[in-house]
Amino acid sequence: MKQRTIVALPGDGIGRVVLEETIRVLDKAGFNARYVEGDIGWEFWKREGNPLPGRTIELLEKHKIGLFGAITSKPKDAAAAELDPSLKDKGLVYSSPIVGLRQHFNLDVCIRPCRTYKGNPLNFIRRGPDNTIEEPEVNVTIFRQNTEGLYGGVEWSNPPEMVYKGLASHPKFIQNFGDVPVEELSISTRIFTKKATERILRAAFDYARKHNYKSVTVCEKPNVIRETSGMMYKMAQIIQATDYGDIELWNTNIDAQMMWLTKNPEIYGVIVAGNMFGDIVSDGFAGLIGGLGFACSANLGEEVAVFEPTHGSAPKYAGYPVSIVNPIAMMESACMMLDHIDEGEIALRIRNAIAKVIMEGKVRTYDMMKMAGKADVINHGAASTRQMADAVIASL
Ligand code: NAI
Ligand code: MG
Repeated sequence: MKQRTIVALPGDGIGRVVLEETIRVLDKAGFNARYVEGDIGWEFWKREGNPLPGRTIELLEKHKIGLFGAITSKPKDAAAAELDPSLKDKGLVYSSPIVGLRQHFNLDVCIRPCRTYKGNPLNFIRRGPDNTIEEPEVNVTIFRQNTEGLYGGVEWSNPPEMVYKGLASHPKFIQNFGDVPVEELSISTRIFTKKATERILRAAFDYARKHNYKSVTVCEKPNVIRETSGMMYKMAQIIQATDYGDIELWNTNIDAQMMWLTKNPEIYGVIVAGNMFGDIVSDGFAGLIGGLGFACSANLGEEVAVFEPTHGSAPKYAGYPVSIVNPIAMMESACMMLDHIDEGEIALRIRNAIAKVIMEGKVRTYDMMKMAGKADVINHGAASTRQMADAVIASL
């Protein structure tokens, strides 16, 4: 096996420890790689006024594959207050480096698989007929458009005159907001482009075909948000009819989907949505399979790909003398990376090892024990982050 170079982006807080433990698992599973560390996160914001330094961008440009832990983000003013004194009053404005990465490399396709591990005490259960308890097996993969829509950043409070005039040319604006003083208006836009919409839809259909899912569900709200959601659904119908006759196209509204996912999550396969609804529905499904400790993701562009757990840096747990957080979401994200670079056999080996540890149930992090995340959970039988990684390594 040729040696790969992976850009390791530990970031902040628990991102650092889950990445370190995951790299240990990758090594033991036989993945031949060299890791170059990329600077990203709060420390670099405070010290350099940039949480995503140019040298990190260059590393990713060169090596193409990033394995990312998590970063800490804070609101604009709080961020400015923590800047190194020499950088204050330079007009620096904080913005999230992971959003920055997605935008810079156009990582427009976000994939978030949610699969049940048998024996996970956090699995969703529901009541069946005659008060029986059922544990539906979830196997859903969410495709979230990652760069546009409500998170595209085109927004104003007290919008400039040109924007106001443009809005006022819409009869609905005059009807609903015409008498609101401009300084009382806050506006966040929801922009969808055909190109990105087609890319996320095709990625979803291709994945469904490759992984034997029988349906792709567009999860938006086309009956109300006619232009953007409407465009996505219309394009999905055309693409399905033209190129994916073997896969069913379903259509759900985001609100109803959040209800259906607790009633019959097992019927869904691939789900595709815009940026915000994709974010929402993927957290919803992640809750059914164990929550943040299990939720992994891939951000794919045409050239660069970055793999990360969906959780953040959980700052309050970062200072514990022994780390207690669950590294499985990070390990699963690394498995997605392995699939992406044609090392699927190693990914399968790691996933099987994780499955065995969960099934045996002897080693469980605090979240799997349903404990509050206090530093002393270790004394009450919860495994540490490192012990969980050790168990996965042993089961390899
Ligand atoms: P968070 O995901 O960091 O933590 C929320 C809670 O989830 C934690 O307090 C903990 O109870 C639990 N949790 C998270 N990861 C876990 C794990 N691996 N195992 C067990 N339990 C886990 O979200 P929060 O607290 O909203 O944000 C903290 C910081 O992280 C903020 O600065 C936020 O901006 C940032 N963030 C960064 C993300 C990224 O790097 N992609 C994503 C989400 C938040
Ligand atoms: Mg989220």
